[in-house]
Amino acid sequence: MTADQEELRRPDDSATETVHVVLPNDANPLGFMLGGSVMHLIDMAGAIASHRHTRSRVVTVSVDGVEFLHPVRVGDLLILRSRVTCAFRTSLEVEVEAVSEEALTGTRRLTSRAFLTFVAIDANGRPTPIPPLQVEAPADVRRAEAARARRVQRLETRGRLASNDFSL
Ligand SMILES: CC(C)(COP(=O)(O)OP(=O)(O)OC[C@H]1O[C@@H](n2cnc3c(N)ncnc32)[C@H](O)[C@@H]1OP(=O)(O)O)[C@@H](O)C(=O)NCCC(=O)NCCS
Repeated sequence: MTADQEELRRPDDSATETVHVVLPNDANPLGFMLGGSVMHLIDMAGAIASHRHTRSRVVTVSVDGVEFLHPVRVGDLLILRSRVTCAFRTSLEVEVEAVSEEALTGTRRLTSRAFLTFVAIDANGRPTPIPPLQVEAPADVRRAEAARARRVQRLETRGRLASNDFSL
C-alpha cells in the first residue's frame, strides 16, 4: 500500500460493531441496565471508530443528547455500532447506535443513537490534524452533510458554555 492510499480513509475502514453481555454489575436493583453503563459503552464504541480513523490518541469533547428508547435487561446483549460521519481538521464526529438483543428470542430493538465528537491529540495533549474522510456512497454523503450542520450547533453551544461562570 502506498502512502497516498494509506491516507484514504472511508467510513467502512473504521466502522465498528461490538457486542456486550449485560451483567448484574451494569444494572440497577430491578435488573435494568443503567443509563450511565449504556453511555460508557457508547463512548467506547465511538472512541474505537475514532482510533481506527485517526490512528491517534483521541479524547471525547462532546456528546449530543442521548435518549433511552427501551429498557435493556440483565442477560440481554447490547450491540454497539459506530461509524465516522465526518472528519474536520483535528476533530471528527462518530454516530453510535446501541441495539438491544434478547438473548433467548433474538428480538432486536434500537435503544439509543448518539453523535459524539472526538479530538485527536498529540503526546502533549494538543489537538493534532487527522486524515480526511472520503465519502462516496449517497448515504455517507448525507451523513457528512448532517454532521456539518450539527457541528455548527455544537460550537455555538460550546461558545455559550465557555462564556458562562459557575451557576450552581
Ligand atoms: C479536546 C481539547 C484538547 C481541545 O482543546 P481546545 O483548546 O478546545 O482546542 P480547539 O479549540 O483548537 O478545538 C480542537 C477541535 O475540537 C473541536 N471542538 C472543541 N470543542 C468542541 C465541541 N464542544 N463540539 C464539537 N467540536 C469541538 C474544535 O472545533 C476543533 O476542531 P477542528 O480542529 O476539527 O476544527 C480540550 O478541550 C480538552 O482536553 N478537553 C477535555 C477532553 C476530555 O477530557 N474528555 C473526556 C475524557 S476522554
